[in-house]
Amino acid sequence: MRVIAGTARGTRLAPVPTGVRPTSDRVRESVFNSLGQFFDGGDVLDLYAGTGALGIEALSRGCERAVFVEKDGRAVAAIRENLRRAGVADRAEVLRSDVERVLDRMLTDGRVFNLIFADPPYRIAATEVGGLVSRLRALLAPGGRVVIESGEAPAEGTTGKKGVTRRYGGTFVTILDRFELTMIVAICPGSFDPVTTGHLDIIRRASGIFDHVVVAVGSNLRKKPRLQAAERARLIEKVTGGLDNVSVEVMDGLLVDFAREQGARVIVKGLRAVSDFESEFEQAQLNRKMYPELETVFIMAAAEHSFLSSSVVREIASLGGDVRGLVPDGILETVREIYSGTRGR
Ligand code: PNS
Repeated sequence: MRVIAGTARGTRLAPVPTGVRPTSDRVRESVFNSLGQFFDGGDVLDLYAGTGALGIEALSRGCERAVFVEKDGRAVAAIRENLRRAGVADRAEVLRSDVERVLDRMLTDGRVFNLIFADPPYRIAATEVGGLVSRLRALLAPGGRVVIESGEAPAEGTTGKKGVTRRYGGTFVTILDRFELTMIVAICPGSFDPVTTGHLDIIRRASGIFDHVVVAVGSNLRKKPRLQAAERARLIEKVTGGLDNVSVEVMDGLLVDFAREQGARVIVKGLRAVSDFESEFEQAQLNRKMYPELETVFIMAAAEHSFLSSSVVREIASLGGDVRGLVPDGILETVREIYSGTRGR
């Protein structure tokens, strides 16, 4: 393992103590290529630092100071040796401690960093990585970036955010900027069998409030959908194409699990009348019990949609009636064909 670029370029780094997973040269090189010309001064925080290769590379490329956090004693010795070899020891602080404890102290002290590396060992559960992301938010300076490595799948709490996740063999690397860490992702869940103009109105209004909206096409066990979820999702994609911050996904399991995966903090539901309230209230309470940090918010349907539902669209279309105005124009013909049973005839 060698320093790739900068003042310490070519410095051979001390070998990795057993039990510490190093970031491979290939992954390190790709991470630094993605960060580009980013290293004009600034402070770097290297969490779960291992041999310190990431933080040392950043110092070599122009970061001013670095803090390394590592709990393994042999790894701490390797970091110190590597800092000495690279000639950057006077710009570094090495803390032998738990990441959790250090983060608590830094948050209390109000410290901020321009670049944060978090390379948790594989055994850390994805849920812990999610918790880590929300705390790193407060430690990031304006314009700063967080690089998260994880060994399983994109770090939880980061998907649904726009940051770039790349896979290198068995390693996933996600780079997020401050906006991507602070952005509020909301989920608009429903059966959408089919999507109506009322649904579209709620999705559009939610997209004006939240940074990103994920429309989740799910299964309501009390209903038997006419169309496969993937097909219902395709219709929604067609009518939300003009909304930049809206994406559409099929949701297989529980809504709360999906929200966790997407790093979402909000569920958005439309409310048409008092009659909707009872069931929505029940679902919101149950979801809150399973995932207390997830807030359900309601957007009141426009008066002209108060009578509108997917079931009336299905009924009217199946009896050959006109559903113009009830479903978005872009899918009018498809809905007519599918739900009247004339598709393919
Ligand atoms: O459009 P709908 O039929 O009112 O949507 C209901 C939906 C899909 C949002 C709801 O059934 C749901 O969240 N399903 C996912 C499974 C789940 O989490 N069930 C527990 C809800 S308390």
